Amino acid sequence: MTTQPPVLSIDGLHVRFRLRDAVVHAVTDLALTLHRGELLAVVGESGCGKSVLAHAVLDLLPANATVTGTVCFGPHNSPVRDLRGRHVGLIPQSPATALTPVRTGRTLLAETLKVHGRPATDADRVAAEAGLDPDDLARYPFELSGGMAQRLATALALAPDPAVLIADEPTAGLDRLLVDHTLDLLRRRCDNGSAVLLITHDLAAAERVADTVAVMYASRIVEHRPAAELFAAPAHPYTAGLLDALPGRAFRPIPGHPPMLTALPAGCPFAPRCAHTDDACTVQPATADGAACHHPLTRAGAR
Ligand SMILES: Nc1ncnc2c1ncn2[C@@H]1O[C@H](COP(=O)(O)OP(=O)(O)OP(=O)(O)O)[C@@H](O)[C@H]1O
Ligand SMILES: [Mg+2]
Repeated sequence: MTTQPPVLSIDGLHVRFRLRDAVVHAVTDLALTLHRGELLAVVGESGCGKSVLAHAVLDLLPANATVTGTVCFGPHNSPVRDLRGRHVGLIPQSPATALTPVRTGRTLLAETLKVHGRPATDADRVAAEAGLDPDDLARYPFELSGGMAQRLATALALAPDPAVLIADEPTAGLDRLLVDHTLDLLRRRCDNGSAVLLITHDLAAAERVADTVAVMYASRIVEHRPAAELFAAPAHPYTAGLLDALPGRAFRPIPGHPPMLTALPAGCPFAPRCAHTDDACTVQPATADGAACHHPLTRAGAR
């Protein structure tokens, strides 16, 4: 892992949503640290809590959420409300619905640049950097394709040049060339001293650009290690299952389904789907050497 100072530290983070007759445990006891120059990929199946984590970090959760734990930015532990934009930016998942519909892309981008003390004339350059043809800035968000809206959202997040960028599925709906363009852009930002938390379903993308990878399962981080180590020798059976499901590997899906977040088991939440489950797994495993598992694969050697 990098020796750069942390720009984002999350500790003991829990997020609960109150529903009429249940409580959703969307993020449980989560700790992560992001350093200057680091690209951290957060991966995991749909519904495991990745976007809720992003919104909790940015203090953007709705009123039915209860959040506990700490989120600190930079060395000064500044409140996130003062830091949104220039210090920490978000490329939201499903940007088409997040973009203000009554302003053109150019107006949205010019306003964001102005708020952050940059000339509106930078709009074309920032759009092009995000892979968006500057001519498309004349359109309203509802006139954009999903992929164009994605790139406009990326341009809007890049405009303040934030020290920390949280990118929630920034390559969804893009074709291969634009996926690579966006990934290279994120990688370059880190190489220039920013930090990126990249939420993605695309494990190949994570393998290509991430320094570190955090694997989420049923609201918890179950493995968090340097990317090269994790892809070469996953320690958690869930991570191994995700990798085995890839077309370029065994192409074998993980059997079963994740547990409901309204009814999480007391022990390891992956136990019902895991080939290595025994009595020890009825107790929630502590995290050791980057993996929360009673029977980690790398410590026991290849199983
Ligand atoms: N406002 C809310 N009220 C109640 N439950 C919510 C709310 N927002 C999210 N959830 C629940 O929190 C859980 C985690 O959702 P989240 O959007 O973080 O998943 P995700 O990992 O980002 O999935 P995907 O990969 O599909 O984007 C889900 O069970 C979701 O239904
Ligand atoms: Mg999501």
